[in-house]
Amino acid sequence: MSSDVVELILADHRKFEDLFRELRSSEGDRRTALGDLSALLVAHAQAEETEVYPTLRKSSQVDDEEVEHGAEEHAEGHEALLDLLEVDEPGGDSWDEKLEQLSETITHHLDEEERTILNDARATVTQQRRDELGEAFLRSRQHYLDKDCGRIEYVRELVRESQS
Ligand SMILES: [Fe+2]
Ligand SMILES: [Fe+2]
Repeated sequence: MSSDVVELILADHRKFEDLFRELRSSEGDRRTALGDLSALLVAHAQAEETEVYPTLRKSSQVDDEEVEHGAEEHAEGHEALLDLLEVDEPGGDSWDEKLEQLSETITHHLDEEERTILNDARATVTQQRRDELGEAFLRSRQHYLDKDCGRIEYVRELVRESQS
């Protein structure tokens, strides 16, 4: 498997899209899909902010504004995620509404991240550096998954921190 950070990030983005499809379906276990999505969204965003964004920014390969904007969009995503996690039963009106909001927020972010930060990384970062960054990204992502970062208390704390 590739350890290119751009490929690893893109692979997660496609997983988010698969999980959103499961969450829209009336068949299948939507609670489990939401737990999986929550953990992956948080671990992915935290690993990007901890390992990927700062390195790209420091070496001026990616615009400061793009990185700041990416982190703001992560915070918006966590807020929309928390709203969905707080819905009691999958499938009702409230579920559909919160799911649509989360899906819109995340889709917007993925689109922008792929067009700005990831394309800049492709154009300016050497393959060796991209592989090293990919390994750091995976380590950090696993660290957050091991902390069970998708649970509602954890997401609530992240939202609180970003609002303070
Ligand atoms: Fe991403
Ligand atoms: Fe991101």
